Amino acid sequence: MMAARSARWHNALKLALQKEEGMKNVFQLATASVNDTTPYVRSHILRDHITHPSFPSLPLLLTSTDIRTPKVTQIKSNPSHRVEAHFWIKATNEQFRVSGRVAIYPSPGLTDKKGIEGVGEVYDAFRSQGWNWEDERRKQFDSVGAHMRASWCRPVPGSPMDSYSDAEKWPVKVAKPGEEGYDAEDYEEALGNFALLLIDPIEVDYVELGVTPNRRTKFVRQESDGERWKEVILVP
Ligand SMILES: Cc1cc2nc3c(=O)[nH]c(=O)nc-3n(C[C@H](O)[C@H](O)[C@H](O)COP(=O)(O)O)c2cc1C
Repeated sequence: MMAARSARWHNALKLALQKEEGMKNVFQLATASVNDTTPYVRSHILRDHITHPSFPSLPLLLTSTDIRTPKVTQIKSNPSHRVEAHFWIKATNEQFRVSGRVAIYPSPGLTDKKGIEGVGEVYDAFRSQGWNWEDERRKQFDSVGAHMRASWCRPVPGSPMDSYSDAEKWPVKVAKPGEEGYDAEDYEEALGNFALLLIDPIEVDYVELGVTPNRRTKFVRQESDGERWKEVILVP
């Protein structure tokens, strides 16, 4: 029998994010490049939690990126497609380190296949019901503000510039259809660079510094049916 309830670590994460003040939903995403054996980390926005009804305890963490960024190359260089997401929640004094496999869904119009299909039972379940990640990509793209959308309409992220003032030539806002100032060319260019990045968690290290004595729990995903997450109590 499959466990029909959400994961304890995920409930704790959602509760902590609700309690957080200021910049909510910011986390750090670590990648490991196989090419230069170097770790890389940067901040990301958690845009959504996506759960398939058949797998309530196996949420996918959704963020987004520009398909041209170095992190995409780093992820693709690593055959395991493993990443780690790090959340520090000041309001609750908790740290979550979520290690998992990543999927990347870019524009289907890209000539070279830049994405990574999600592998595993959760993605299989979405696929078998005809779930369309392209619809999700467009929905997420349209849900951000016009300033944010303009950030996917710049030259290749991480490429050198002659001066800071070069940026003055770039679009400041990219409106969506029906909004004032809509420019189809800018909109399509930004949409073409916008990609979904979905993390399918495998192991979660949860540290609670808000309780005394402090607690640390490792959640290990079980591949068999039954209780989905094995909990191991660790020395903090
Ligand atoms: C608060 C904050 C949130 C960010 N959110 C994202 C995000 O959701 N996606 C993203 O690609 N970059 C985001 N960035 C920018 C990245 O941290 C990073 O600078 C950029 O993606 C290039 O990373 P890379 O060169 O490692 O690929 C964010 C930066 C900050 C400071």
